[in-house]
Amino acid sequence: MASLHHQGRSSSSSRRRLHSPLLLAISLISITTLCPQHPFQVAAQANKFASRPKLVDNASKKKKNKKVNTEDGTYSSPWRFGRKEPKVEEIVFDSSDWRRDLFAAEFQLILLSVMSSSLIAVLSWIWYRTTSKLVNDAKVVKPGETGAEDIICENLEQTHSGFFKSVAVGFEDITMTLQQKKNKSERVILDGSIRGIAQPGRMLAIMGPSGSGKSTLLHAISGKVKEDKKINLYGKRYINGVPLTGDSKIPSAFIEQDVNFFPHMTVKETLDFRVELKMGSCLKTKKERDDLVTDLMNQLGLTKSANTIVGNAKVRGLSGGERKRLSIACEMISSPPVIFLDEPTSGLDSYQATQVIETLRKLADQGKTIVAVIHQPSQHTFQLFDDLLLISEGKLMYYGERSKVRGYMTELGFGCEDEVGTAEHILDCVSRVVGADAEAEKQSEKRIETIAAAADRHAREWVSFDAAEGAEAQQVERKMKHIVDLTTTHPGTNIFRQFKLLFGRSIQETLRGKAAIIIKVVQQVSLGLIYGGIYTLGDNQASVMDRFGLLSLIIIGATNMAMAGTIRSFPKEKSIVSVEVASSLYRTFPYFISKAISELPLIAIFNGIFSALIYPLAKLQKGKFKTFLGLTSLHGITSEAVGLLIGSISPSSDVALALFPPIIVLNIIFDGKNISEENTPALLRWVNQVGLIRWGFTGLAVNEFEGLAFSTGGPRRGPVVKTGEEALARFGLDGRTVEDVVRAQTKIIGGCWLLSFLGLALTRQKYEVMQNPVQ
Ligand SMILES: Nc1ncnc2c1ncn2[C@@H]1O[C@H](COP(=O)(O)OP(=O)(O)OP(=O)(O)O)[C@@H](O)[C@H]1O
Ligand SMILES: [Mg+2]
Repeated sequence: MASLHHQGRSSSSSRRRLHSPLLLAISLISITTLCPQHPFQVAAQANKFASRPKLVDNASKKKKNKKVNTEDGTYSSPWRFGRKEPKVEEIVFDSSDWRRDLFAAEFQLILLSVMSSSLIAVLSWIWYRTTSKLVNDAKVVKPGETGAEDIICENLEQTHSGFFKSVAVGFEDITMTLQQKKNKSERVILDGSIRGIAQPGRMLAIMGPSGSGKSTLLHAISGKVKEDKKINLYGKRYINGVPLTGDSKIPSAFIEQDVNFFPHMTVKETLDFRVELKMGSCLKTKKERDDLVTDLMNQLGLTKSANTIVGNAKVRGLSGGERKRLSIACEMISSPPVIFLDEPTSGLDSYQATQVIETLRKLADQGKTIVAVIHQPSQHTFQLFDDLLLISEGKLMYYGERSKVRGYMTELGFGCEDEVGTAEHILDCVSRVVGADAEAEKQSEKRIETIAAAADRHAREWVSFDAAEGAEAQQVERKMKHIVDLTTTHPGTNIFRQFKLLFGRSIQETLRGKAAIIIKVVQQVSLGLIYGGIYTLGDNQASVMDRFGLLSLIIIGATNMAMAGTIRSFPKEKSIVSVEVASSLYRTFPYFISKAISELPLIAIFNGIFSALIYPLAKLQKGKFKTFLGLTSLHGITSEAVGLLIGSISPSSDVALALFPPIIVLNIIFDGKNISEENTPALLRWVNQVGLIRWGFTGLAVNEFEGLAFSTGGPRRGPVVKTGEEALARFGLDGRTVEDVVRAQTKIIGGCWLLSFLGLALTRQKYEVMQNPVQ
C-alpha cells in the first residue's frame, strides 16, 4: 500500500487531465506550422517532379542555387511551386537540380518525422512526469497501474471510516450574480443570506417557488456550478466545521434531474458495468462485485427489475421512478457519505415519488447526508425529511427543522388552516403573486419581505460556524481534496479493462438496437434494388456515362446514410459518456477506440448486403467484386468517422444536424466533377484533399473502369471511348490507383478520429470556483 502523505500536488490534477490531449494537439500544430508543407505533399511533389515526362533536361546549365527558370518567372524550391505552374513544355529543367531537390525533399521528410516523434516523446514524458507523481515523491504511480488502484482503494476505505464517514456540509453567505450585459447590470440569483448545515443521518429538503434558485444553490454547495464567464460565485463551505477552499469538491454523489443511460442494457448489466469500472481494483473477484450489485439492487428496490432494460423515451424500459433509483444506485457504488439530488421526484407519480424518497430515508438512516431539492412534495414525502431550507427569489426564508416550520409561519402571522398541507402552505407563503389584482400582488410582496427579514434576524441563531482553523483544518482540507481528486480523477481499472468493458457495451448496444438494425438493412436492400432495377450496364458508349452516374450515386447515398446515422445518434451517446468520463469511470481514449472499432463489423455487413445486390443486378465488371466491397466498406468507415467528428465537436445534436447539409453540399461540389481545381476558391482548395465523395467515387471508378473495353455503338456524349482507361482520363482520373484512394481515406479516417478524440477530451465540463464573500 502506498503512503497517503499528501504533497499538495493533487489540487491541480483536474487541470492536468487536459494536458495530454492539449500537448498532443500543440505538438501536432507546431509540427504542421514548422513544416513548410505537409511531408506527404513534399514527397508527392518531389516524385511528381521526378517522373514528369515532358520536362526538358538541361544538365549543361548548372546553377548553384536551386531555382528553376520558367518563361514567366522562377520558383525557389520544389515544395513552393504548387500554385502557379507554367506550361510543362516551357520548363527548362536541370536533372542534377531535380535530383538534389528530390533528396532534399526526402531528407526533409525524414527530418520532420524524427523531429515530430521526438517532440511528441518529450511532451509525453513531461506530461507523464507532472501527472504521475502521486501522493508522495517516493512512489511514482501511473494512472491505471496497480499502485494507483491501491491508493484509490485505500482512499475509498478512508471515506468509509473516520472523519469522512459522517459528513456535515455547512454553507453560508452563498451569493451568485449574473452579469447581464458587459460590465453593466448584475442580476442577483442568490443574495448571500443563505446559510445552513446538512447533517449526517438527516435529510435536508431545499424548497421554494420555481426560479427561486434551488438548483443553483444545490450546485453551488456541491461545487458543481458550470463554468460561465457571466457568473460570479461567492460563499463559504465547511465539512465537519472545517472551511473549504473555493475549488474543493465534497466526497459526494450528485444526481441530476435527468440522467441518461444506454437504453438497451438491463439494470443488472448497467450496475455490473459500473461496479467493475469503479471498484474493479478493490473488489478483485467476480463474487465480491456481484454481491455489491445485489446489495445495491436490494437497497434501492431494483431487484425485481434486475433484468429489465433501462429504456428511454423511444424504447420502453424502466419506469421513471425505477430509473431515478437506478441513477442513485449508480452513484452509490463507491458509497459516498453525501448525496445531492436535484428534484429526484419530479415527473413521477406520487407512489413512485414516495418510493424514491423512502429509499433516500433508508440511506439517511444508515448515516448518509442527504440534500435534495424538492418540488411540491406530498404531505407523506414531506414528512420523511428532517430539515428544511426554504428560499424565495434567492433569499433565505427559513432554515431549521421541518417539523417546526408550520409553527414558525404562524408566529410570523402567516398561519394556515388545518386541512392545508404544510408544504403547500409554506410555498404559498413565499411565492409572489403575479398577474392578479394589484392589491394581492402588493400583499405577497410585503409577506415575502417580512419572512425574509425575520429569516435574516434568525439566521445566526439558526446556524453559526466556529470554523476550525490552523494546521488541523488544513490537514483535513488537504486529505479531503486528495480523496476527491483520486477518486474522481482516476478510474478504478486499468486502460485495457476499460477498453474491454466499453467495447462489450458498445457491441451489445448496437446488436440490441434491433429497430435500428432492421431500418438499416431495409435501407440497404431497397437502395440496392432501386439502383439495380434501374441500371443494367452493357458495354456500349451510353454505358460509360451510366457507369459514372451509378458509381457517383452509390457514393453519395452511402455518405449520406453513414454520416446522418452517426450524427443523429452520437451526440446523445456523448451526453452520457461525458458524464461517465467526468465521474472518472473511464478515460476518453479507451472509449473512443472501442467506439470506433465496434462500428466496423456492422458497416462491413451492411455494405456486404448492398454490394451483393447491386453488383450482379447492375452488371458491374466481373472479377472486381471484392475490391468493390472493400472500397464501399472503407468509404462507409470514412463517412462514419466524419460523422463522429461532427458529433463530437457539436455541443448538441441540433448543432450537429445543422452542420450536416453544408458539409454534404461541400463534398458534392468538390467531388472532382463539378468544379475544376483551378476555379476552386483558394481558401477551399483543401476540401479537395479531404473530399469524402471525391475519393469514394475515384476508388469505385478506377476499380470499375480499369480493364474494361467498350463497343463503339450506342448513344454517346463526346468522342468515342474505347477503353476504361480512356474513360477515366475523361474525368481526370487517369493515373489514379485504388491504393491512392485507400491511402487518402485512411488519412481522413485517422485525422477525423484524432480530431474527434481531441474534441471529446477538450470539451470536458469545468466548474466555477467559489470565491470568499465580499465583506
Ligand atoms: N447559468 C445561468 N445563466 C443564466 N441564468 C441562470 C443561470 N443559472 C441560473 N440562472 C437563473 O437563475 C434563476 C434560478 O434558477 P434555478 O434553476 O436555480 O431555479 P429553481 O429554483 O431550481 O427553479 P425550478 O424549480 O424551476 O427548477 C433562474 O431564473 C435562472 O434563469
Ligand atoms: Mg431547479
